[in-house]
Amino acid sequence: MKNIRKLFLLSALSFMLMGGKWAFATDVGAMLKAMADPAGAPFFPVVMQVLQVLTFTLHMLFVYTAIGGLFFSIYGFTKSEERWKRFAKATLELAKVSVSLAVVLGVAPLLFYQVIYDPLWYTSANLSAWWYVLFIILLIIGYYFVWGAYFTKDKPSMSMLLSILGVLFLLFVGFIIHVVNYQSLFPEKWVEWYTDGGRTMNTSGWNIYAFNVFRYLSFLVFPSVAITGAFIMLYNWYFRNREDMDKDYLDWAGKVGARFAMYASIGWLVSHILYIFTIPADWGAKESLLTWLSVLGIVLYAGVLFTSQKNPVNMAIPSTLTGFIAILLIAIFREYLRIASTARFGYSIYNYKLNLEFLSPLLFFGTLLAGLIIYAYGWWMAYRAGKTPKGKVYEATETEHNLGDLSVFVALLWTIVWIGVGLIVIARNYG
Ligand code: HEM
Repeated sequence: MKNIRKLFLLSALSFMLMGGKWAFATDVGAMLKAMADPAGAPFFPVVMQVLQVLTFTLHMLFVYTAIGGLFFSIYGFTKSEERWKRFAKATLELAKVSVSLAVVLGVAPLLFYQVIYDPLWYTSANLSAWWYVLFIILLIIGYYFVWGAYFTKDKPSMSMLLSILGVLFLLFVGFIIHVVNYQSLFPEKWVEWYTDGGRTMNTSGWNIYAFNVFRYLSFLVFPSVAITGAFIMLYNWYFRNREDMDKDYLDWAGKVGARFAMYASIGWLVSHILYIFTIPADWGAKESLLTWLSVLGIVLYAGVLFTSQKNPVNMAIPSTLTGFIAILLIAIFREYLRIASTARFGYSIYNYKLNLEFLSPLLFFGTLLAGLIIYAYGWWMAYRAGKTPKGKVYEATETEHNLGDLSVFVALLWTIVWIGVGLIVIARNYG
């Protein structure tokens, strides 16, 4: 609210200065600077920006497999054939795991974003405050529906109904976060929105001021199916060599994934290009290489999917990799839009006052390294164990045992450092 008040005061000032004529655009640069944290950035903004884009890419990867997994399972449950039911259960499992990964991986870009783009984030979140609070509640309800669908997976009509409710809630959550992100790109309109063009003050927090259907379709709906299709091809590739698995079913599932992914990638491409055409001309986005690289990413992905149709197993890895590159290029383009939008008002995160602090980043990068080692072990073991036929026990190799010992050691070391730092800080504060 403090930001909104500052914002309003600045505009009121400009209102008076301009002889009673509203002058929203003239002070936008000063307004943004006034709202940024006066303490400056605790670390190089560009490092946070890169991490923000990377973690956002991972966040979206699992948002896509959560929503896409639900779409596929709903479709599978509408069919009476046994293989479709099996398929629906597998994609439901993917959706269930993906929601938790999407949530966990959503925290990281949020942390980076709020540090380097605080005027954008907090203002936009305040403008639609109630929706933003509801975001978490709707997410929790949606996730319960997904779990409900999972527990009733042997009763197709019940599971389908719960999956439909689950996906509707998650799409609504995506709508809210879309609105908050999209509104933040138009600082020149914030005061106008908040005051209804100078007539009132909208303090309810219940308003939605901007929504772009093409951005929503191209950042959420189409890639959900397109990316999940590649995951289904991976499912085919991963289980195919297991002697107790039904190869015909897996090959059929791989083909279903590849076909739906290809159709969806065309929708993705079209909606993405339409979104680009809605971007205001003064942002210079249409002339930017980054914009067209994001288009190229989807074109490449669609091309790889096109060549995958005959033999999805062999193309599972290339499809997943190109899909990931397409999301990454869109994440870069999306960040570029933020730079282009704020640059119009002479605002840049690279101009922040640096208040360098090394211990927190050290702890952060240490935690990241520890996490990578621990997860490398966990994921590798899950990968190996999943390849073992039912009823057999996977025997770890010598190197795998060593990696296990290393990850336990790293986890202990990390806990000691983490608690130790906390204790030192407490002792210093009270000392
Ligand atoms: C499963 C439910 C979720 C869905 C469907 C979802 C969907 C999305 C979508 C579509 C966007 C891009 C919006 C746009 O630019 O138009 C986005 C961005 C974002 N999401 Fe999520 N999200 C979910 C959960 C979360 C959670 C739980 C968090 C935080 C803990 C989160 C944090 C973020 C952040 C910080 C961004 C913006 C990042 C940036 O601009 O760099 N999301 N999300």
